[in-house]
Amino acid sequence: MTLIKQIKSCLLLGAALLTACGETAVDAPVAESAPTYNLTLNMTEFMAHVLEPTADGLWRSAGWVLDEVDGYYELYPTDDEGWQRVENHAAMIVEAGNALMLPGRAMPQAEWATYSQAMSTVGLTAMQAARDQDKEAIFQAGAQLYSVCTACHQAFNPEILSRFAPGSLAD
Ligand code: HEC
Repeated sequence: MTLIKQIKSCLLLGAALLTACGETAVDAPVAESAPTYNLTLNMTEFMAHVLEPTADGLWRSAGWVLDEVDGYYELYPTDDEGWQRVENHAAMIVEAGNALMLPGRAMPQAEWATYSQAMSTVGLTAMQAARDQDKEAIFQAGAQLYSVCTACHQAFNPEILSRFAPGSLAD
């Protein structure tokens, strides 16, 4: 009861006082439980519904576009809003790398961490390229991202490679 009151008052006091509230809550049993993650999505679902759409969003705005009739053509952002969207997708890639590393989702092999972290690093590079509105750099980041996807599939699920073709890269 005291704890609930405490939490309520913390919420009311707002973010500025969160640190102080956090300190008070350290002794409370609730605060001792480990953080929990929602791991309902299995790896196939994570790839198909989270990572691939995110990466496609980046690739599509990074010049990696294949038009069935006209072949490849450039589709770089033409205004600040467009570049903002690229930066958003790049940031999601950074965080998707973290999501791959969640306890219960990450594979124990060292390569898993290497590729997951590489994905976050490439995401950061792409964010910078978007901030600089640098077409060449965003194209290169898109290429690096594709290499990371492919390297991890090669290591962990080689038969994915034959099926794996991001929408914007399919031939
Ligand atoms: C850290 C390793 C890792 C990285 C990095 C990775 N994948 Fe995967 N991916 C997997 C594994 C493992 C599977 C097989 C999952 C399963 O059992 O179906 C998979 C499967 C897939 C599939 C097939 C899903 C299905 O419907 O069967 C797609 C599509 C995919 N990945 C897209 C991507 C894209 C796009 C990227 C890069 C932006 C990427 N993956 C990066 C490990 C990875």
